[in-house]
Amino acid sequence: MNDTHSRIEALRAALGGRLAILGHHYQSDEVIAHVDFRGDSLELSRRVPQLSAEHIVFCGVFFMAESAAVLAREGQKVHIPAPEAGCTMSNMAPAPLLAAVLEALGRDGRRVTPLTYVNSSAEVKAVCGRFGGSVCTSANAKTMLAWALEQGETVLFLPDKNLAANTADALGLTQAERHVLNIRAAGSRLDLKVAATAKLLVWPGCCSIHHRFRARHVAEARATHPGCLVAVHPECPDETVRAADAVGSTSFLIDFTAKAPAGSTLVIGTEEALVLRLAKQYADEKIVLPLKSVRCANMAKTTPANLAALLENLDRLEPVRVAPEIAKSADLALRRMLDACARA
Ligand code: 13P
Ligand code: SF4
Repeated sequence: MNDTHSRIEALRAALGGRLAILGHHYQSDEVIAHVDFRGDSLELSRRVPQLSAEHIVFCGVFFMAESAAVLAREGQKVHIPAPEAGCTMSNMAPAPLLAAVLEALGRDGRRVTPLTYVNSSAEVKAVCGRFGGSVCTSANAKTMLAWALEQGETVLFLPDKNLAANTADALGLTQAERHVLNIRAAGSRLDLKVAATAKLLVWPGCCSIHHRFRARHVAEARATHPGCLVAVHPECPDETVRAADAVGSTSFLIDFTAKAPAGSTLVIGTEEALVLRLAKQYADEKIVLPLKSVRCANMAKTTPANLAALLENLDRLEPVRVAPEIAKSADLALRRMLDACARA
């Protein structure tokens, strides 16, 4: 064990039950080596209020730490080793622009229900809460889009156009029922006439990592590894999803790999840190390969060095804070999701 790793382990031991470290599946193996719990973004956030630890360290990107802070109990402090770790997709949907677009779309009395993917800021979730909307994850997007469609005439899905398209396909919505919004020039170029005819309005954001997985990569994988099974994340373009054998959330891809028969070759379209970890874990039973080699630069911003620095200064550093009025409306949006999924 090198110096940084021994320092982290010594600090963990000294803090004992006052500390819990959570790590997203896309974190590097060097960081994952020090976490108490590993999971996808929602699993980790949901775990926070069940923990007795006072300090929760969230190794992931900023929107995930914010969701954890919204769901944390009174007295719990959520910290992030790399607060500058944003998410390109989440940055594509600024809250003031979302509020302006929703006001413009609802000007003629039309009920537009916003549904935001969990990969968005607490402020965006709060706007969704205030406008009668909710939140979804990649695992429950189908249930939540069906819920949102029942709330009024139109749904605005954001920020991910790919997850929107893949979920709309799963629900059988036609192309004519969808419209991708033009949000340029501060929302002044919205086509309100066309928007008024659509059932599903789509925000034009995407994940800069998953958007790079293309149908031609699936064709190349099949040519190079005949008989392989290809599974991809629903943040990939719809043409990629159609070319693959299976599509699903981070947790689904982990499960898919675990359940695939021994001797199979699996090609997985998601962040490479996770795929390479699965490849190592199942090296004796099956071959697991990345569809394409891509790392999320923001996930990689958390390192053993900044984790150690955070732990050394835990009592002095400001935790992640979400203003109470934002936390309240964001919590409302999140609770609508938990209720709708509990009924489904
Ligand atoms: P999960 O919600 O599955 O953890 O995914 C988060 C993410 O950033 C996917 O790109
Ligand atoms: Fe955001 Fe994509 Fe990175 Fe996930 S993989 S954190 S969606 S940029």
